[in-house]
Amino acid sequence: MAHIIDGKHAAASVIETVSSAAKTLEQETGIKPGLAVVIVGNDPASHAYVNSKSKMAKQCGFNSIQHSLPEETKQEELEALVAELNADPSIHGILVQLPLPQHLNAEPIIQSIAPEKDVDGLNVVNAGKLATGDLASGLISCTPAGALILINKIHGADLSGLNAVVIGRSNLFGKPMGLLLLSANATVTMAHSRSKDLAGICRGADILVAAVGRPHMVKASWVKPGATVIDVGINRVPAPDKGEGMSKITGDVAYDECAEVAGAITPVPGGVGPMTIAMLMANTLVAAHRAAG
Ligand code: GUN
Repeated sequence: MAHIIDGKHAAASVIETVSSAAKTLEQETGIKPGLAVVIVGNDPASHAYVNSKSKMAKQCGFNSIQHSLPEETKQEELEALVAELNADPSIHGILVQLPLPQHLNAEPIIQSIAPEKDVDGLNVVNAGKLATGDLASGLISCTPAGALILINKIHGADLSGLNAVVIGRSNLFGKPMGLLLLSANATVTMAHSRSKDLAGICRGADILVAAVGRPHMVKASWVKPGATVIDVGINRVPAPDKGEGMSKITGDVAYDECAEVAGAITPVPGGVGPMTIAMLMANTLVAAHRAAG
């Protein structure tokens, strides 16, 4: 059976370090890291994520601000809020929760976030720094940064000679994950829904990272024996065993069968998810440190 990678434990350790560094920063400079999280609309799952981000920011001793805007918010109103947060010296990190409602155009909003406050790493400046191998001066997307820490726990920091396959090519996860793995010297394949023989590509992976948004798509027959399997999926599925109308969160990996083949595997929940929030706190702390000079 595979080693189960405990994301909750790893995240708790990041949170402890961040909380203590935030305290020191405030004592030495008077600067309290500030995180503003913006959510538009009523999607219950997005509200749950955003609430846990705001709550964790408070727990880290940050100035934690949440802006919950109504579904009918106009593009100009959201842009005005981002401009206000960009200009607010008490805010060091800005996160606009995605997806936005259909009538809003997310890209110009994301690009209007000041690069030094872009704790999602989605601004072209931050994405470009990552793409050109500058991992030090920008901000890196939280979920891939957190997934890499879990991968490093199994394989160390240098992934030379290892084949990594990332399924999914989003700006928020797949692309930055591929670039981070490449920077760590892995041989990286970016696979996606249009790839031919996805199962065959995955079978070549020493490190298999799934971010497809399809529950249990990755089967045991896709996994090379001994491989490290990182499941980034957060899918809500019906759970009739928990009672009528109940649901649960499950990953993109058929966990039970893959755990029999893999060398190490992340569970869902309790794997990559907690690391995302922890890295958001780490990015906000870094942004506050830079603002302190
Ligand atoms: N929606 C789901 N995950 C994320 C994330 O990491 N950042 C933002 N902004 N929206 C998300």
